[in-house]
Amino acid sequence: MAQKFDLVIIGAGAAGLMCAATAGYIGRKVLLIDHANKAGKKILMSGGGRCNFTNLNSAPANFFSQNPSFCISALKRYTAQDFLDLVERHGIDYVEKAAGQLFCEHSAKDILNMLLTECEWAGVEIRLNTKVNSVKVQGSGMAIKTSGGEIGAGKLVVATGGLSIPTMGATGFGYELARQFGLPSVQTSAALVPFVLTSQWKDRLEPLAGVAVDIETKLGKGRYKEPMLITHRGLSGPAMLQISSWWKSGDALNINLLPEMDLAQQLIELRDISPKRKLGVWLAEHLPKRLAHAFVEWESLAETSFADLSNVQIKSLQESLNNWQIKPAGTEGWRTAEVTMGGIDTDYISQQSFEVKSLPQLAFIGEVLDVTGELGGHNFQWAWSSAVACAQAS
Ligand code: FDA
Repeated sequence: MAQKFDLVIIGAGAAGLMCAATAGYIGRKVLLIDHANKAGKKILMSGGGRCNFTNLNSAPANFFSQNPSFCISALKRYTAQDFLDLVERHGIDYVEKAAGQLFCEHSAKDILNMLLTECEWAGVEIRLNTKVNSVKVQGSGMAIKTSGGEIGAGKLVVATGGLSIPTMGATGFGYELARQFGLPSVQTSAALVPFVLTSQWKDRLEPLAGVAVDIETKLGKGRYKEPMLITHRGLSGPAMLQISSWWKSGDALNINLLPEMDLAQQLIELRDISPKRKLGVWLAEHLPKRLAHAFVEWESLAETSFADLSNVQIKSLQESLNNWQIKPAGTEGWRTAEVTMGGIDTDYISQQSFEVKSLPQLAFIGEVLDVTGELGGHNFQWAWSSAVACAQAS
């Protein structure tokens, strides 16, 4: 005889745990299953181990989707403040690092323990190391064959996340299941991911590994003023992760190394005021020293004083420093990407309940859907908001 639950949730990550606890509290008999040996592995590694668990400014404009209005309702119904209230009820210390970005003061474990505690209080049963072998419709519910036996569900919620970091348990299960029930997916790609460089750029930049610099970068409608980090493999840091969500193979990155300055004007003035001063010495006051020195070497201006700069050279320097163009070889891909761009086409999903419009006993929440947040806590906020909306409709 199959065991019966009101709600079976596949995927004990951020969205699955939140959905399970919320549905448990409203009286549903909930089973949460995961193939991994531990729940919430990505929560533990998030935010450099301190989980950027929400963003107080999270709004639909912070999300990418083929259907930009899909996320509005859920984000409005369960806000960043609602999640923060939960964090505060659990006495978790947190800090605001950049505007609106809330991180645990101590450890991401605090968020995972909070969600597990909520699940326990709500009476949720969690089964780990459980493989799902098949899913099919059974009357008005669903039948799920697992490595632990057959389970009947009034409703099945799929919260299996995206494809990033397969070593943490990521699989394409959600997309495959969607396909089984006739739901298409918007093409997936790795996002919030560092760039790797062609050998020409790598040779140039590798000696600068470890240099961090505040830049502005633009691509399409994406525009970010954040730090960039040069690594042994290429370009990383918040600015590069953010712009990776806009990047397509073949695009050049546009990097403004001195976004706060009218560079041409400044250089013309310096040529009058300090003609003997070396360009490289001045640049090292405005950029990390290693980068400034490398830059004047590349431009063959290491020994140049301001007095030596022609108007043409000033124009060319402005172009190089304010509009540095680098064409990456690609990204680091799924191995290090924080999220998956694309996913299950939201046109087939109810934005109120997250049920499949043509099959209400099946629902999808979290990252598996074609809703992808910018860096800064938005992806977790999407997990919480979509999970709560789905649970409340269960
Ligand atoms: P999530 O990936 O959390 O959970 C999916 C679960 O499904 C996993 O437990 C997995 O084992 C399980 N699963 C998969 N396939 C299965 C199968 N076939 N059978 C059974 N179970 C299966 N976001 C943010 O807002 N702030 C941050 O600080 C960070 N930091 C960060 C760092 C790193 C390194 C990464 C990789 C990601 C982030 N993120 C982030 C993104 C964030 O972690 C992500 O968007 C959410 O965890 C998505 O939540 P989900 O519950 O949808 O998927």
